[in-house]
Amino acid sequence: MNNFTFHNPTKIVFGKGSIAKTSSLIPKERRILLTYGGGSIKRNGVFDQVARALEQHTFFEFGGIEPNPRYETLMRAVELAKSERADYLLSVGGGSTLDGTKFIASALCYQGDDPWKILTNTLPVEKATPIGCILTLAATGSESNGYAVISRNSTDEKLAFGSPLLYPQFAILDPETTYTLPDRQTANGIVDAFVHVLEQYLTYPVGSPLQDRQAEAILCTLIEEGPKAMANPKDYSARANIMWCATQALNGLISCGVPQDWATHEIGHELTAFYGIDHAQSLAIVLPGMLRHRRQQKGDKIAQFAERVWGVNLKDRKACIDAAIAETEKFFRSLGVGTTLSDHGITQGIERIGLRFEERGRRIGEHGDMGKADIDAILQLC
Ligand code: NZQ
Ligand code: ZN
Repeated sequence: MNNFTFHNPTKIVFGKGSIAKTSSLIPKERRILLTYGGGSIKRNGVFDQVARALEQHTFFEFGGIEPNPRYETLMRAVELAKSERADYLLSVGGGSTLDGTKFIASALCYQGDDPWKILTNTLPVEKATPIGCILTLAATGSESNGYAVISRNSTDEKLAFGSPLLYPQFAILDPETTYTLPDRQTANGIVDAFVHVLEQYLTYPVGSPLQDRQAEAILCTLIEEGPKAMANPKDYSARANIMWCATQALNGLISCGVPQDWATHEIGHELTAFYGIDHAQSLAIVLPGMLRHRRQQKGDKIAQFAERVWGVNLKDRKACIDAAIAETEKFFRSLGVGTTLSDHGITQGIERIGLRFEERGRRIGEHGDMGKADIDAILQLC
């Protein structure tokens, strides 16, 4: 097992009715900017619950943070937060609202000339406004990690950044808030969490049986519970299990002491930047091609995945790997998520993606050995 440091400071408050606890989680003297997305929280009663919980607090609202949150929108929130002298940010919504809020928290304290440099620079974030989170979509794990992904339409860029200062102080996870998710978003969440686990699990063996079994437990639970939530959106138990899986998938626990990949995510972010494909749907396209291209390097773990997660017991290693990839594709498709570029009508311009990695001098994969030629080959298999 590799060396590691694990510290996750986010307080998780889980279960139905938990939004009422918001008032005790934020000091009364704070001036809160409540951030949200396109308005789902106003339609499904979540906003009313939050407003009731904050009756004794001072808060201002900033709505309109879009899926794949945009820099241009977030800078307007920074202006509002400055003019209202907000000193606490409360994100109410999905991963995009929360990622956007993490950027606002960083930009509010940024001393440099151009806040976009928070994303393009590798300089660490030195200070951030504190954040709390009420999550309404189980998917990204952003509620319990320090990462965010921000898009800029004018340049077709989607860039990730992170800092230990950006972990939410608390995350309220009430599975009932996810009852109103459209099927597409429920499915996206299951796929995103599933791929988060695979990016930390399907690498190469380092003698980490506990982390492997933790990863496999999340995968098996998503396979069991995902279809239940799709069939019955108000199945509390299924919603609760999916929500907890999604948090566990990217809160740092299963990556302790093991190699990580993230190549599927990096290529997926470019698909979203160029073609506007939902984050999870980009992953469902790239992952099968990635596994086919990397079947040698990842073979031992894919075979373990086949046996322990999909129950495939074949002597022939090649057949075993093929079966694991096919079962994964079948699972995504059963949720209504396409697994090929052609499912999304993409036939042109795909070579821009490999070129972008080349321009940035970026090499990816758990061995850091993949460049343009690999990315081109992977996308050919998608
Ligand atoms: O904007 P509103 O009106 O709230 O509607 C949203 C949005 O249209 C809707 N929604 C959310 N909760 C709802 C609801 N509709 C009805 N009822 C509810 N309870 O769902 C739509 C999608 O929301 P979004 O926040 O975009 O989805 P998600 O949580 O999947 O977040 C995706 C973003 O997170 C990034 C992705 O790249 C993408 O930008 N990621 C962040 C990560 C992180 N910070 O660690 C890791 C991930 O790999 C990912 O990259
Ligand atoms: Zn993801």
